[in-house]
Amino acid sequence: MTIYVRSPLYDQESIPLPHETSLLSKPFNGSICSGKGDEYSIKNNIVELLTKEKSYTLAQSTNHWRMTASMYEDLWRVRSLSLLTGEPFPIEKEKELLVDWVRPQPGKTYLDVGCSTALYARSLFKAEPESIQVALDFSMAMLDEARMKSEADQANIYLIRADAREMPFFGKTFDGVVMGGTLNELSDELKVLFECRRVLKDDGVFFVMHLIQSETWYGKVLQNSAEWSGIKFWTPEQSNELFVRAGFNVADQFTKGIVCFTKLVAM
Ligand SMILES: C[S@@+](CC[C@H](N)C(=O)[O-])C[C@H]1O[C@@H](n2cnc3c(N)ncnc32)[C@H](O)[C@@H]1O
Repeated sequence: MTIYVRSPLYDQESIPLPHETSLLSKPFNGSICSGKGDEYSIKNNIVELLTKEKSYTLAQSTNHWRMTASMYEDLWRVRSLSLLTGEPFPIEKEKELLVDWVRPQPGKTYLDVGCSTALYARSLFKAEPESIQVALDFSMAMLDEARMKSEADQANIYLIRADAREMPFFGKTFDGVVMGGTLNELSDELKVLFECRRVLKDDGVFFVMHLIQSETWYGKVLQNSAEWSGIKFWTPEQSNELFVRAGFNVADQFTKGIVCFTKLVAM
């Protein structure tokens, strides 16, 4: 099945992605262009669709650093949920929940938004190698890591550099959208949630893992100090209100400590 992206310059123009782009065991370089002639490069399989650099918060800027990207998954992400919940929470348990709620199907298409190292896209591919996985981030450093890790896992994934506030996809493209930890980092969370709703099919599922406000005094102190870097925390009621405003209903939710997993469906 061919994946089409929407031209970042001309909303009506669709551009087919070469299938080889997703085959990460073979380096692919080239370019794609729309019927209007606007051209986008593909370097080492990563499709560059970010047409203008935006201003970043401190938290977002750190994700563009090679050092952060290279350490992110192995030093932080695999331990993060145990550290954040205060009890053993192996990454395998998170992957199980992801696969259980999303249930990837052969031939169906899934999008990992703010993918960093594409942990979620890789997990969905592993669960269903006949599914089509697309992973989007605006950090090239993170996408390079995603590429390396996906290749090592023998996972075929389309890697797209773009801004989640203006996704280069047509409406109702995806059967599932997943977003792990990214909500807290977004500068314009409602805009991104609206975009997630737009690109998701009406019978699709949206899996979100995010951090909620802590109820302990030390947690509050830590979260208050993190907020200056651009990270936001909501109560579960506040984030559910955001989901509803973006056009989603909460189908399932599971909270442990400050970590909240939500399965959303279209209203
Ligand atoms: C906390 S990390 C999430 C990592 C990943 N989803 C996971 O589960 O490990 C947030 C990621 O979102 C990306 N990001 C933040 N805002 C974005 C935006 N507007 N568009 C695209 N990527 C964004 C950052 O570059 C970073 O890689």
